[in-house]
Amino acid sequence: MKEIHKFHEMSSWDTLKKPPNTLDGNATSKMHFKELPKIKLNYNNIPEKNFSKIIQERYTTKEISPLENVSIEELGTFLKWSVGTRFNDKSKRVYPSAGGSYPNHIFIFIRNNLNIDDGLYWYDEKDHSIVKISSNYIYEGALLQDGIDANLCFVIASDLNKSQEKYGLRGYRFCLLEAGHISQNMLHVASVMGWKSAPIGGFRDEVINDRLPNEFKVLLLIPVGK
Ligand SMILES: Cc1cc2nc3c(=O)[nH]c(=O)nc-3n(C[C@H](O)[C@H](O)[C@H](O)COP(=O)(O)O)c2cc1C
Repeated sequence: MKEIHKFHEMSSWDTLKKPPNTLDGNATSKMHFKELPKIKLNYNNIPEKNFSKIIQERYTTKEISPLENVSIEELGTFLKWSVGTRFNDKSKRVYPSAGGSYPNHIFIFIRNNLNIDDGLYWYDEKDHSIVKISSNYIYEGALLQDGIDANLCFVIASDLNKSQEKYGLRGYRFCLLEAGHISQNMLHVASVMGWKSAPIGGFRDEVINDRLPNEFKVLLLIPVGK
C-alpha cells in the first residue's frame, strides 16, 4: 500500500465509539504563555463588500512587500474577523472546528510596524489580545521561495496533543481541515482590507517549530503585505 494511503487508513474510523489511539487527558498542553503580559487589541468593521466579489477577487500573490503604517487596530480588525470569537457566542469562533475543540492556534511574526516591539506573538482570541512569546521575528529562514518580504506573517500551528487526545489519529485530519477554514478566512479578510497574501505550505518546518512550544506544529504560513 502506498504511504499516503497507509497514512490515511491509520486515521480512518469504523465506529462512532471512542476513536482508537486517543491520548489520556494529561496530554493536554499547558498554555505556557497565558501568564505573559497581554497587548489588548480593538477592531473595526471590515469594508462592506459583496460576497460574490470577495470570492472572485481572492488570489495568491508571489511577491509581497511590507505594509506601511499598519496599526494595532488594523491587526486587531484582521484577527477579529478572520479567527476571532463570535459576537453571539464567545465560546465559538468565526470558523468551524471538529467538536468545537479548536486545536489550532495563531502565532504572528511582527516587525518594523505597529507601535509594538518586533517579535513572535500568540493571539489570545478570548481576550482579543496578543502576547509576545519571543523576540525572534525572523521567519525568512523557513521560506523556500523568493519574493516574500512581509512584516506581518501569520502562522497556523496545531496543538497535536490536544487533537489526538480527543480524536486519536483522525485528529490530524481535523487539524488540517480546520487550518483550511482559518486560512480561507484570513485570505478573504486580507483581500477585503486591501492586503496581498499567500498561503505558504512549502517551508522548513523546524525553523518555525523551534520557536513554538513543543506540542505545536506549524501547518501553514500566511504572510500579508502589499
Ligand atoms: C495548502 C496550500 C499550500 C500552498 N503553498 C504555497 C507555497 O508554498 N508557496 C506559494 O507561493 N503558494 C502556495 N500556495 C498557493 C497556490 O500556489 C495557489 O493557491 C494556487 O496557485 C492557486 O492560485 P490562487 O490562490 O491565486 O487561486 C499554496 C496553496 C495551498 C492551498
